Amino acid sequence: MSFAVAIDGPAAAGKGTISRAVAAHFGFAHLDTGLLYRAVAHAVLHGADPVEAARTLNAKVLENADLRRPDVAQAASKVAVIAEVRAALVDFQRAFARRAAGAVLDGRDIGTVICPDAGAKLYVTASAEVRARRRYDELIGRGIETAYEQVLDDVRGRDARDMERAEAPLRPAEDAVIIDTSEMSVEAAVAAAIAAIEARVSVARP
Ligand code: DC
Repeated sequence: MSFAVAIDGPAAAGKGTISRAVAAHFGFAHLDTGLLYRAVAHAVLHGADPVEAARTLNAKVLENADLRRPDVAQAASKVAVIAEVRAALVDFQRAFARRAAGAVLDGRDIGTVICPDAGAKLYVTASAEVRARRRYDELIGRGIETAYEQVLDDVRGRDARDMERAEAPLRPAEDAVIIDTSEMSVEAAVAAAIAAIEARVSVARP
């Protein structure tokens, strides 16, 4: 029996860290769906048509380290408003979610659109200032020179675009467990996520 965990939330809230830890804990496969939009954006920055890039996406490009760049993140948020781009990426995500061994998908619309029947749904969030601070520290740690104010502007711009778009806007599913990581350690956030999922897994697998 497959079991899917949907983890949604805004940029830099800690979804990636929590998703990887949850996947390792339960032995589930993990898909960072933001990488799909980043891969499309990366192709667009190199001159491709967004819809064509989404329709012909090859999973191998998801390993490209350039996808982590801040300019690719902003471009990803822009291609993600295009309905045809989103539609072209649905089947890949749903097939991943059906993996027999279980799956964790993190993104913006997993609990609401991609996997409305997910076994467990989390919405991981934090204040824009805390998220910008974490992203700033991460970029500086990777040797990418930037200013905190710039990162905060980017976070706010991406939040507005991701939440206000017409197609699959970022919002918590009605049955999602909300985890606000603003004042939580990584360990506490991971423990809260595992506890919330554990409760659902035991319902599905008594
Ligand atoms: O999670 P991320 O920062 O890598 O996502 C990059 C952008 O991709 C994000 O700003 C919006 C878009 N995205 C989306 O629209 N739907 C998803 N499921 C995942 C990401």
